[in-house]
Amino acid sequence: MTRPCNDTFLRALLKQPTAHTPVWLMRQAGRYLPEYCETRRRAGSFLQLCKNPALACEVTLQPLARFELDAAILFSDILTVPDAMGLGLYFTDGEGPRFERPLREEWAIRDLAVPDPWNHLRYVMDAVAEIRRALNNTVPLIGFSGSPYTLACYMVEGGASSDYRHIKSMLYQRPDLLHHILSVTADAVAVYLNAQIESGAQAVMIFDSWGGSLSAAAYREFSLAYLQRIIGRLVREKDGQRVPSIVFTKGGGLWLEAIADIGCDAIGLDWTIDLGEARRRVGDRVALQGNLDPAVLFASPEQIAIEARKVLDSYGADGYGHVFNLGHGISQFTPPGNVSALVDTVHEHSRLLRRKMHKLSSSA
Ligand code: CP3
Repeated sequence: MTRPCNDTFLRALLKQPTAHTPVWLMRQAGRYLPEYCETRRRAGSFLQLCKNPALACEVTLQPLARFELDAAILFSDILTVPDAMGLGLYFTDGEGPRFERPLREEWAIRDLAVPDPWNHLRYVMDAVAEIRRALNNTVPLIGFSGSPYTLACYMVEGGASSDYRHIKSMLYQRPDLLHHILSVTADAVAVYLNAQIESGAQAVMIFDSWGGSLSAAAYREFSLAYLQRIIGRLVREKDGQRVPSIVFTKGGGLWLEAIADIGCDAIGLDWTIDLGEARRRVGDRVALQGNLDPAVLFASPEQIAIEARKVLDSYGADGYGHVFNLGHGISQFTPPGNVSALVDTVHEHSRLLRRKMHKLSSSA
């Protein structure tokens, strides 16, 4: 398999020089796009959309047809893994994801098993392969999974939660049970991501959306340790190309040095941390991805350009090792035209910064 025509994203993750800063957006295929809503309606529901490889491929490509994005991300959801473990995932309007059988009883926890990705999650592998064919090496494809701790939050709580009462009670009262859930889930995530790589994913990202709700010590023991185990088991190279990994702990800004030490290639950042400061803290150990506040996209195109330039300037003129992204998923209320303004500014301004830098260095 050859490298994609536009491999800026992969190069940036490996901290290699690039002519511009690559950009993609978390949740880039989603409800802010009318064409997404139309395909979702045809599929019947969000879950049916995820489980239909042809339609999942169609929505993956929709944002790329509109914007000059430097990467595609598999259309799916992090909760397909616990669904394959038998918890019964469903979505309710307004309330988000829920499980029919939350993990609360010791016997159910002891029964938990690693699903075979080629069997129970075959539809994801088929989608990855179909998307790779459709992309035809234009831009790289990102595969993803949830982190064990974030998946466990949904599995134990039974859905979204405001206080994490059930999982945190388990964490402090029965840490052995939580460790068991996390251990089986980490094994499931590792084989799942490796199957995505085998099917054609060229980089992988792990979403640890709720790790930031933990104390520093609990984060290390219940989230980071399992992220490290997964990273250690990932396939590092496919067809002679390195497959970079990105770890995104929302609210993890305090723990960057520790995250940089687990062996991932890049860290995803939310918008609460200054990007330049984050870069100084991790040094050249990892690349960084982020970190514009998604709410900036509610402002005017002029204001969006100003805020995007601030992020690029903060990282530094060379831009090497930076992938531009939002600090969290794009809101469903984002006007699509504002996304064009963002993507175009990132490309133009990062090219300008590099030109200025080269001029300075050649005149020095
Ligand atoms: O980034 C992408 O474009 C890839 C697709 C993707 C989705 N979910 C599609 C989706 C990815 C990478 C995810 C990850 C995901 N899913 C996370 C981690 C990232 C984060 O947001 O913190 C989490 C926690 C989930 C679980 C989940 N799925 C929630 C909480 C919701 C409801 C949110 C809402 O806005 O209602 C979903 C549904 C979901 N996943 C949608 C999309 C496009 C909206 C579903 C719809 O069409 O109704």
